Amino acid sequence: MTAFSVSRFSIAAVVVSSLAAFAQAASADEKTGLEKSAICASCHGPVGVSPVPTYPNIAGQNPLYLEYALRQYRSGERGGEQAGMMYTVTQALSDTDIRDLAAYYGSLTPGRSYGTSMAAETR
Ligand code: HEC
Repeated sequence: MTAFSVSRFSIAAVVVSSLAAFAQAASADEKTGLEKSAICASCHGPVGVSPVPTYPNIAGQNPLYLEYALRQYRSGERGGEQAGMMYTVTQALSDTDIRDLAAYYGSLTPGRSYGTSMAAETR
């Protein structure tokens, strides 16, 4: 539980610093996407690199691919063991929300999640 609280705290610190850096050089869509991304950050991390090894990193992915993926989750076309989480989250998103979020996550620098590298190190 302690580790969890510490990581929540550091996530908050990263969010604040990344918001400040991001505000300087982003398109209108990317900025709006950032504003809409609070709910996504709980699973995909504050900058699109997930703290959970079984959740995907989405930072720096092709924006058009992200858009297609989000539409497919929303319509229920994209299924699988974990797709239900994304189905639920995307029900409230409009096409414009999806475009903004795709622009935002596509603009971020790709990264490896801590959990994934830990798993790789113990192999
Ligand atoms: C409750 C946790 C959770 C939340 C909240 C969440 N996601 Fe996800 N997301 C997942 C999981 C788990 C997957 C993998 C689903 C699968 O297996 O298809 C995923 C998959 C994705 C993918 C597909 C990645 C790929 O490589 O194909 C995109 C894009 C995505 N999420 C974007 C978002 C956005 C944008 C939001 C906010 C609107 C969001 N997610 C909120 C857990 C979450």
